Parts: sequence; structure tokens; C-alpha cells
Amino acid sequence: MYSQKVIDHFKAPHNQGVIDDADAIGEEGNPVCGDIMKIYIKVADDRIADIKFETLGCAAAIAVSSALTDLAMGRTLDEALALNKDAIVKDLGGLPAPKIHCSMLGVEALHSAINQYKIAHKK
Ligand code: FES
Repeated sequence: MYSQKVIDHFKAPHNQGVIDDADAIGEEGNPVCGDIMKIYIKVADDRIADIKFETLGCAAAIAVSSALTDLAMGRTLDEALALNKDAIVKDLGGLPAPKIHCSMLGVEALHSAINQYKIAHKK
């Protein structure tokens, strides 16, 4: 069973969409299910000034992306890099065990976007 928070995020996801002039884009695929996640970030003063996601994924992946982008917004790049699957699962009030792997997709896409930004800007 999904928590109410997962259902709420899935029904009305936050920060879904594209940032046309993103500073970095992270894309990850889940080898278990074939789902795909993209995270777009804008960075200002070393903080995530804007973040959006697109996903071709399951309900859990959408809820994770929505919660993850909420958690990452406004954080420094290093704080956002410290967000991990456990933080997301906790924020969502838990995920069914077979869906835990779905939480990795968003986290890895976020980390990929931040690392690309850091490499491009020699941070
Ligand atoms: Fe693919 Fe959840 S089943 S991300």
C-alpha cells in the first residue's frame, strides 16, 4: 500500500515539466523496469534556484520525483547531493519494498545533474 503522501504527490506532482534554459540536466534509466527520469536544474549562488522533472515511470517514481524536487529546491549543491533514497522514502512516509528501487531513479538523476554542473563550472 502507498502512503497518503505518495498518493498526493502522484495525483498532483510538484515541479513537473522542463526548464528550457537549464544549467544542467541529469538523465537516468532504471535497468530493472526500463523507466526513465530527467531532472533539470537552474543554479544561482551555488544553490538550486529552480528544479523540474520529467519521468516515464511508475506512480512511485513520479511521487519520488515530486518529493525530491521539493526537498532539493533552495538547497546548496552539496546539501542536494547529500539527499539519498532513505531521505526521500522517509519524506514520503515509506514505500512498499518492491518500489524502493524506484526511489533511486530520481536521486541518481539529481546527482547526475549536479555533478554535470560542477564539472562544467569546475566546482
Ligand atoms: Fe520503474 Fe518504478 S517501476 S521506476
